[in-house]
Amino acid sequence: MTTTLITGANKGLGHETARRLLAAGHTVYIGSRDADRGRRAAERLGARTVLIDVTDDSSVAAAAKAIEADGGLDVLVNNAGIELRGQANTVTDAAGTTADLMRRLFETNVFGLVRVTHAFLPLLQRSTAPVVVNVSSGLGSLTRVATPGTPAYAYPGVAYPTSKAAVNMITVQYAKAFPDMRINAVEPGYTATDLNGNTGTQTVEEGSEIIVRMAQVGPDGPTGGYFDAAGPLPW
Ligand SMILES: NC(=O)c1ccc[n+]([C@@H]2O[C@H](COP(=O)([O-])OP(=O)(O)OC[C@H]3O[C@@H](n4cnc5c(N)ncnc54)[C@H](OP(=O)(O)O)[C@@H]3O)[C@@H](O)[C@H]2O)c1
Repeated sequence: MTTTLITGANKGLGHETARRLLAAGHTVYIGSRDADRGRRAAERLGARTVLIDVTDDSSVAAAAKAIEADGGLDVLVNNAGIELRGQANTVTDAAGTTADLMRRLFETNVFGLVRVTHAFLPLLQRSTAPVVVNVSSGLGSLTRVATPGTPAYAYPGVAYPTSKAAVNMITVQYAKAFPDMRINAVEPGYTATDLNGNTGTQTVEEGSEIIVRMAQVGPDGPTGGYFDAAGPLPW
């Protein structure tokens, strides 16, 4: 039996990933920072739920303790993320980017991911087939963002792509440090969720495809990579 935690799984891509991993036979914990939202999602899907705010040390420690007491963890999907769009669903451009905005994005997307990974490492190390999926973005690719003519090039924001580039580097360094684990970064693609005011062009079924696939890689699968549904991506 494979036990999986997905952070930020009360809605969006995390919720759809939970639905599909449950269908694949995983025991799934819906990570949610709000107890009611988590409980409702877990009831909808027939999953377990755990309260976890990735920005809060004590919340993350309590979640790790609860899952450890329940039997441990095999797969961690670091999915919780924010983009913080402004009025009229606009992304803050370079001129408007402040240290405070950067800090808020990093607190969830980067420090949160490290906080959760660090807390669950002892559990993952006890698994016979540990897997970590870091939900990055195509906007975390320096190659894409620097290539004229691509949608990523046209994206004006600084904070969100920078946070996801950091997620990519974290993925590479952790994968080298823990060769017995499969640790990959994934790009779901531009998907209609609350994160982007539902402007994304893909469905959550399409967007969750690569998350679900990488959550199910076996011990011979890739590690330290960066993938979308079509294959490896340039860093
Ligand atoms: N949608 C896209 O086009 C797209 C593209 C590339 C990558 N991604 C990435 O995909 C991941 C999922 O995003 P989504 O599009 O599904 O967005 P979403 O529908 O807004 O879902 C984000 C989830 O993260 C949770 N979350 C936010 N801050 C949290 C915190 N401090 N602690 C715990 N949970 C927290 C949210 O909880 P609440 O409900 O409590 O707010 C929600 O469950 C993110 O990492 C995002 O960067 C999305």
